Amino acid sequence: MQVCVIGTGYVGLVTGVCLAQIGHQVICVDNDVEKVKLMQSGQSPIFEPGLSQMMTANMEAGRLEFTADLQVGVDRGEILFIAVGTPALPSGASDTRYVEAVARGIGQHLNGGYKVIVNKSTVPIGSGDWVRRIVLDGAAEGRSETPSFDVVSNPEFLREGSAIYDTFNPDRIVIGSSSERAIDLMQQLYAPIVTRQFAQYPDLPPVPVLVTDLTSAETIKYAANAFLATKISFINEVGNICDRVGADVTLVAKGIGLDTRIGNKFLQAGIGWGGSCFPKDVSALVHTATDYGYNAQLLKATIETNRQQRLIAIDKLQQVLKILKGKTVGLLGLTFKPDTDDLRDAPALDLIDRLTHLGAKVKAYDPLISSDCNRPDLAKITLTANAQELASGCDALVLVTEWQEFQELDYALLASLMERPTIVDGRNYLDARSLANAGFDYIGIGRPPLDRFTPSAFSPAQIDDLILNAAA
Ligand code: UDX
Repeated sequence: MQVCVIGTGYVGLVTGVCLAQIGHQVICVDNDVEKVKLMQSGQSPIFEPGLSQMMTANMEAGRLEFTADLQVGVDRGEILFIAVGTPALPSGASDTRYVEAVARGIGQHLNGGYKVIVNKSTVPIGSGDWVRRIVLDGAAEGRSETPSFDVVSNPEFLREGSAIYDTFNPDRIVIGSSSERAIDLMQQLYAPIVTRQFAQYPDLPPVPVLVTDLTSAETIKYAANAFLATKISFINEVGNICDRVGADVTLVAKGIGLDTRIGNKFLQAGIGWGGSCFPKDVSALVHTATDYGYNAQLLKATIETNRQQRLIAIDKLQQVLKILKGKTVGLLGLTFKPDTDDLRDAPALDLIDRLTHLGAKVKAYDPLISSDCNRPDLAKITLTANAQELASGCDALVLVTEWQEFQELDYALLASLMERPTIVDGRNYLDARSLANAGFDYIGIGRPPLDRFTPSAFSPAQIDDLILNAAA
């Protein structure tokens, strides 16, 4: 099928590349001419494991192209994806001006042939009908007197760092539309994914496709992200109670997660959630609720719990170091999660602000953030080239992002470079006993000190061994 993806940010580019990979003819449009040139030369403007290679392979196969000309994209595509950003405004509402501009542009360029216009951007609930109106307005200014199109909401559920895997192995595909013609075309588009032709486990039953009205599809996206964020805030709150009563949140999470009604995912306590989706989407849902006269108290508490949780490492540091003024704290990791270079709404940024406010000197090492990144929010810290350089002269380390390479560091060497080796494991990611053996005072989140409760010494994998008679 002929597909046009408008906007080559994270969602747009991943969507375009993956649709080309499953055999469609894809043209990606972006109004940033420099970015288009970069992509035309075969380079990905974002870091996502496997994306660059898949992008060049599909360009070479003649299935993937890039252009800055919206007219070319609209002419070519039978299915037009709107995948531009909807950043949060200071009020918490979504800024929809880019969606509006693209919808109007599509309308202006419509040429009579039938098109499915797909909202892939996370747009405020109710935007489907609004987009339809804007396209019609655009068409009135443009060249088509009888525009023929339908609007579909098709939310994405991709996680950064595993976006390609998530695209080919989705838990479900949601298609929101009232048009049978559009729904049918969307089903054809996703058929190779639904039948698991590109899946890791191709023998599994087909991927469920949920067909809904536009508004329900839009709400599913917000509700899914808000639920996941609430689940994390919940376990973080339980972790804070664990801290006070001497329980271990990793064991508690295991114990509740074995209940299939609860499920074991997204129960990893730590220094809170961040990224480009959760903060923006939970705030937008609260905002929508308010607009419609409802006080979404639970979601507000989800946000507030997370705001506090992002600074939990400071409490832990103060318990050990007391005064932070004049102390040096080293951050292992900066990005909001591993396998991405994304710093959007990363807990590290709040931590840096607070530590520097308290007079501490902050150093950081992140595998994908280098000292020449020129980010104003990192200007007040020292970025090092490796963990060894980071630890040298530090009073304490904080593990902020669970990069795999942090499990393989020579912690005895790092300890030898520090005066009184202390580490706050902000993701409960490291093996507490190994760290203690390496000479560190190890402090987890929601876990009692090592000497008080033996299972706390276990890594997540070892905790699995505590489950007697676990199915192999
Ligand atoms: C999320 C959703 O998972 C995805 O479906 C949606 O389309 C976009 O938003 P992403 O932001 O890439 O994806 O990251 P995710 O893996 O969901 O993690 C979000 C944040 O929650 C990260 O900061 C992560 O560290 C944190 N997190 C996640 C926890 O603190 N504990 C957990 O158990 C899981």
